Amino acid sequence: MPNQQDANGLLNRPLVLPCGAVLKNRLIKSAMSDSLGDGAGNATTAQARLYEKWAQGGTALSIIGEVQFDPRFPERPGNLVLCDDANLKALRELTSRASINQAHIWPQIGHAGGLSHPPISHPKGPSRLDIGEFHCDGMSQSEVAELPARYAKAAKIAQDAGFTGVQIHAGHGFLLSQFLSPLFNRRDDQYGGDVASRCRIVIDVIAAVRDAVGSAFPIGIKINTTDQLEGGLTQEDALAVIGLLDSTSLDLIELSGGSYFPGAASSSDRVASGPYFVEFAEKAKPLTRIPLVVTGGFKTRTQAVDTLAKNCADAIGLARALVLEPSLPQDWLADNDGNLTFPSFSSPPPGGITAWFSMRLTAIGNDEETRFNPELQTAIDEYEDRDDARCAVWRSRFGEAQ
Ligand SMILES: Cc1cc2nc3c(=O)[nH]c(=O)nc-3n(C[C@H](O)[C@H](O)[C@H](O)COP(=O)(O)O)c2cc1C
Repeated sequence: MPNQQDANGLLNRPLVLPCGAVLKNRLIKSAMSDSLGDGAGNATTAQARLYEKWAQGGTALSIIGEVQFDPRFPERPGNLVLCDDANLKALRELTSRASINQAHIWPQIGHAGGLSHPPISHPKGPSRLDIGEFHCDGMSQSEVAELPARYAKAAKIAQDAGFTGVQIHAGHGFLLSQFLSPLFNRRDDQYGGDVASRCRIVIDVIAAVRDAVGSAFPIGIKINTTDQLEGGLTQEDALAVIGLLDSTSLDLIELSGGSYFPGAASSSDRVASGPYFVEFAEKAKPLTRIPLVVTGGFKTRTQAVDTLAKNCADAIGLARALVLEPSLPQDWLADNDGNLTFPSFSSPPPGGITAWFSMRLTAIGNDEETRFNPELQTAIDEYEDRDDARCAVWRSRFGEAQ
């Protein structure tokens, strides 16, 4: 690949968000569930070290994946939990180390809905569903109506703990993504039906979070451009969602796609050459004044520069590339392609690639990445065993799943 110069400094330009906060460049570490919580929802030293490395490496913003506000509905038992008795000391250690070098650090506030981790949850989404091996209960109207206040409370805890913004998770098949998707949302009240009704709870959540954090604090959202599931959110729906979000106080809309629904394609397991969602971004950009981030499948600096040059996105989201090389932004900002070799796995099982990358995150947090070279199956086994062990810790802190 020729070392194309970023002559216009497209990667290096600051991005001023609508709330006035500034991202120092256009490279964002997209949310990853790092599985580095202590099993009881608290931040750990290894996690602080991981985000410190990304901040040292030049990333403008790192987003911590799957930070929960309701311990009954986690994605995994390594998630952080922002609740009343959250360990603020551990969170502040994390946010202060993660925000060196003018880096932003935001939690991705979520609720796993129908995809909550069954050993420690009774999964519950917008509607009761039984599709093949997938089962979840449906939320009552009052449970839905309580969501905005609960997201808002978590956002306020995040702000108090030193996070510099928040992202609302409405992608990848988790709760708010399920509300947007006609496959998961079969409600016949004000929260179901056409796109505007399915999006109502998302808009209510954004408004409540804004009230809680004030006008100068960044709020982002991650949404799907399509669920890549038959009967799920289509690109047309997703474009309509962008139009609806345009009238909110959001600062950043991140475009992704796919789902962790059993048997579905997820973006983090995808091996096809990317980037995946640039064409969608080209359609979405004219529909909103809110800055867009496009995430998924970026492997080279040229792809990032070319995407920004098209003016269809304001920033580039990177996940796996930054697990392979946490200081990649430094290279890319210096017009250097960096030393990035993606591993190739033969016939990986569903979720296997994501598990391998998760275990590499642990190695980075423990300063052991130079020795990290497991077989895929070994990484998967370690990932699953660790979560099995953590479920007991989760139950002893938060009680049995109700
Ligand atoms: C280990 C791992 C964990 C992930 N966890 C999350 C998550 O918690 N929230 C989220 O929105 N996306 C999550 N993702 C998806 C990424 O943010 C990103 O959308 C996806 O990996 C595609 O980008 P990439 O090609 O740069 O990796 C995860 C990806 C990986 C590899």
